[in-house]
Amino acid sequence: MTAQLALHPLGKRLGTEVEGADLAHLDDQTFAAIEDIFREHPVLVFRDQKLDAHQLAAFGARFGRLREHILENYRHPDEPRVSFITNVAKDGGVDKFGVTRASSWHADETYDPPEKLPRLAILHAVEVPREKGGTLFADMYAAYETLPEAMKEKLEGMTGRHGYTDGPDARRLYTAEHIAQRNASRPECLHPAIKEHPVTGRKVLFVNPTHCHGFVGMTNAESDPLIEELRDHSIQDDNTYYHKWRVGDVVIWDEIATMHRGAADAAPEERRVMLRTIVHPN
Ligand SMILES: [Fe+2]
Repeated sequence: MTAQLALHPLGKRLGTEVEGADLAHLDDQTFAAIEDIFREHPVLVFRDQKLDAHQLAAFGARFGRLREHILENYRHPDEPRVSFITNVAKDGGVDKFGVTRASSWHADETYDPPEKLPRLAILHAVEVPREKGGTLFADMYAAYETLPEAMKEKLEGMTGRHGYTDGPDARRLYTAEHIAQRNASRPECLHPAIKEHPVTGRKVLFVNPTHCHGFVGMTNAESDPLIEELRDHSIQDDNTYYHKWRVGDVVIWDEIATMHRGAADAAPEERRVMLRTIVHPN
């Protein structure tokens, strides 16, 4: 029987709780209803789910194709297409890199070329800090739509240069050595600053300050302040949603229509364990 789904807005523009779905046992009609909702609401929250790595991968695979995490030590032992996002080291202590990892605004994998961009990502909370430790999301449709007309026109013809982790915000978060190591394995990729969403056809501002390190035809001295200005415009309070995690939450976000970051505001010794999978178009 198809589940009856109810929607509850969470943030002002972004973040929608979907009530009434059991993601471990979804029939095709309920999944189709979720896909329809996701087209209109690029961050969805499902509460009180209990998915093992196989079930999370099976749910993700309904949307598209899953890839194994690039780094073997993040892969789930039972299901390599699911990875761990955690501040817990293998020996049970605090993984310092895990505490701040992904805490600058970004969309995942924009260091890959346009034809390889992910469609969406899914996080499932297994252990959460007692306080804080949330994830922030920004609506990049609204970021585009609320730009001044002159800025829209300027950006329309511009192309962003994306690398692994060498945008202005990444340079504040990571060491030069870390950045050099990561970038050595990846050529620069180009993306239009204003992108048409492949599913909805709506325009998004497609510039994130972690992976976008410049624009074609501009020096870093010219492009850094523009990237930062666009970030500040995109992350105004009205345009963001802070997700406070509960154990059992499943959150799905659209990788083209949103940016996100870990708030990294919890006590480092508070355990945070999430399962993640990233979904590419078929
Ligand atoms: Fe991310």
